[in-house]
Amino acid sequence: MKITLFIAPTPNGFIAKPGNDTSFVSNRDWLLFLKDVKKIKCVIMGRNTYEQGAMSKVFPLKGCMNVVLTREKMKSTDNCIFTNAHPKQILKLIEKRGYKHAALIGGGVANSVFMSANCVDELCLDFMPRIFGKGIRGFAEIDFENRLKLISIRKLSADEIRLRYKVLKSGKR
Ligand SMILES: NC(=O)c1ccc[n+]([C@@H]2O[C@H](COP(=O)([O-])OP(=O)(O)OC[C@H]3O[C@@H](n4cnc5c(N)ncnc54)[C@H](OP(=O)(O)O)[C@@H]3O)[C@@H](O)[C@H]2O)c1
Repeated sequence: MKITLFIAPTPNGFIAKPGNDTSFVSNRDWLLFLKDVKKIKCVIMGRNTYEQGAMSKVFPLKGCMNVVLTREKMKSTDNCIFTNAHPKQILKLIEKRGYKHAALIGGGVANSVFMSANCVDELCLDFMPRIFGKGIRGFAEIDFENRLKLISIRKLSADEIRLRYKVLKSGKR
């Protein structure tokens, strides 16, 4: 089972401005993200990210299995599972349903929960050309550390780059 974490951060690591404002993420990048994750067919996200996307009817993503982390009791459907299971149990559950690859798509809390459980294999970071000092960070404050191995650098537009990294699993935890 492989997990790829997708983020569109600022160079200083923010994924949203205060008030869940992600308007700094370009439309081009948003479309590329959707194309990539729809190919993977299985997405995992935190409840806040889900709620933001649900408001605009983007989530649950059609044609994908959606897994949403929450401690609230919410009713799962055929393509949307709400769960408070440990990341390793979530991977088993997804695998049982026949998926070999899943996209972790934020937000900051979900990203750190999966990183600290040693459950992320690859990072796909699309850096947005914006800087600000207040908002939601790509990784919430949970203690973990991993070394990364660069896989590729891709220029997405005049000002945007995509870095792909393999997560080396021998880091301190
Ligand atoms: N730029 C980007 O690439 C990008 C990508 C994704 C998201 N975002 C933005 O990031 C923001 C959301 O990030 P966030 O860090 O606030 O929240 P988040 O990670 O999306 O969701 C956090 C919520 O997930 C649930 N949760 C977390 N850990 C859990 C666990 N171990 N077990 C069960 N449930 C767990 C909790 O919900 P309950 O309260 O329901 O228990 C928690 O409040 C939004 O503004 C979104 O638009 C940006």
